[in-house]
Amino acid sequence: MEKSSQKGGANAIVTKVSFIAALAGLLFGLDIAYVNGSLELIVKTFHLTTSQSELIAEILLFGAFIGAVFSGWLSRQFGRKKVLLLASLIFALFTFLGVFAPSFTVLLVARFIIGLAVGIASFVAPLYLSEIAPFKIRGRLIALYQLMITIGILAMFLSNAALMHFGSWRLMMSVIAIPALVMFVGALFLPESPRWLVLVGRNEEAQKVLKRIRNSDEEVNFELGEIKETVKVKGGGWKLLTKPFFRKVLILGILLQALQQFSGMNAFMYYSGQVFKAAGFSSPAVATIVIGLVNMLTTLIAIKYVDKLGRKPILYAGLTILVVSCAVVGYIFKINPPGTEMTSVEQWLTLIFSLLFIFGFAVALGPIIWILCSEIFPLKGRDLGITITTATNWISNTIIGGYTLTWFIHLGVGGTFWMFGAVNLVGFLIIGFLTPETKNIPLEELEKNLENGVPLRKLGVRQIS
Ligand code: BGC
Repeated sequence: MEKSSQKGGANAIVTKVSFIAALAGLLFGLDIAYVNGSLELIVKTFHLTTSQSELIAEILLFGAFIGAVFSGWLSRQFGRKKVLLLASLIFALFTFLGVFAPSFTVLLVARFIIGLAVGIASFVAPLYLSEIAPFKIRGRLIALYQLMITIGILAMFLSNAALMHFGSWRLMMSVIAIPALVMFVGALFLPESPRWLVLVGRNEEAQKVLKRIRNSDEEVNFELGEIKETVKVKGGGWKLLTKPFFRKVLILGILLQALQQFSGMNAFMYYSGQVFKAAGFSSPAVATIVIGLVNMLTTLIAIKYVDKLGRKPILYAGLTILVVSCAVVGYIFKINPPGTEMTSVEQWLTLIFSLLFIFGFAVALGPIIWILCSEIFPLKGRDLGITITTATNWISNTIIGGYTLTWFIHLGVGGTFWMFGAVNLVGFLIIGFLTPETKNIPLEELEKNLENGVPLRKLGVRQIS
């Protein structure tokens, strides 16, 4: 589909529209990072136990899981724009409910419903972006969406640290309402996705939208023709699950998303405050900000190199860094059980290897797993495949959010990081034996290879017929 006849890059309206849709990524980042820095204050207000405090992170992630499960259906039924609008409305309204929550239960309800919006947005925003974008920049947009998530995470870490001295988790949460309102107002003006319009037979409207977002009639007609062609490929639906070739690639997607989450990254995103406190840092918030900064800057590097170097070499390098840093951070905590004090060298090593961990994740598993999951499914099963793998991401994320503090208590911080290290070791097997290199190969060719029974690992290798 990647035809060169489409010469257009992004024009001003595409840039504006992409920015508004990408705000969903920012909100995703803000909401998941919120607990890091605010949790202790919430615990104090409502006198929570460890498992109750884990619930604050967990409930949003579980909501995201449910949201992701329904997002494919919602966006097909009502259109991408309406669903984005709905998500931004939920973000805005329920952030207010959270800010003014009179009890722990109301706070949990607000976080759960915001979670629904996070899950919906995590499916619809990249989908909308990829349908609005000209072909040439489509691939990069998924990585850009990831960048927005990391900007959201960093912004929340910064804002939580800046507002810390007010000692109010409500004030910290209210910050999220600002981009939520901007996105809601902006989303009112978004054009509907031309692909969805064609999908529901509103071809004339699709043409009108394309005229707004493309540079010439030639581009509009070419793209409209292409969309009509692809829409003819009827969705395979749940029946596809009976096809071994689809199941194979689905299992790969599920394994990749589970690997991304059980790598341990979100233990840092949610609980780095606790990790650095256990290491004896006097200002864990500063260390957390550095983590957010490294996460964001590294994502920029990933965007630059993922198409040049390929997915697999970067994944191997990232996993190596993850295994080594989990081993070192785990070891330092092992020889410093609770009650003992780390030397300053050990503290520095903890910080350095934690940052290396973030680097290893953000350069590889962070963006590349999302990219791979958007590439490996055949067209007719893309919606189903992405729905199931995105849901896997959120359910695994829920487990990390819900159990990390418990693991810290029962396995120790050291034991927990060794466990993550072991998962990352298994990651080598998943990448080595099951994952194709998808750099520089048209999606249609991957699809043909898959249906012809080519082993997963070799899907990206051109077959000579
Ligand atoms: C993951 C999130 C994670 C974020 C960190 C994303 O790719 O899916 O779970 O919090 O990266 O930047």
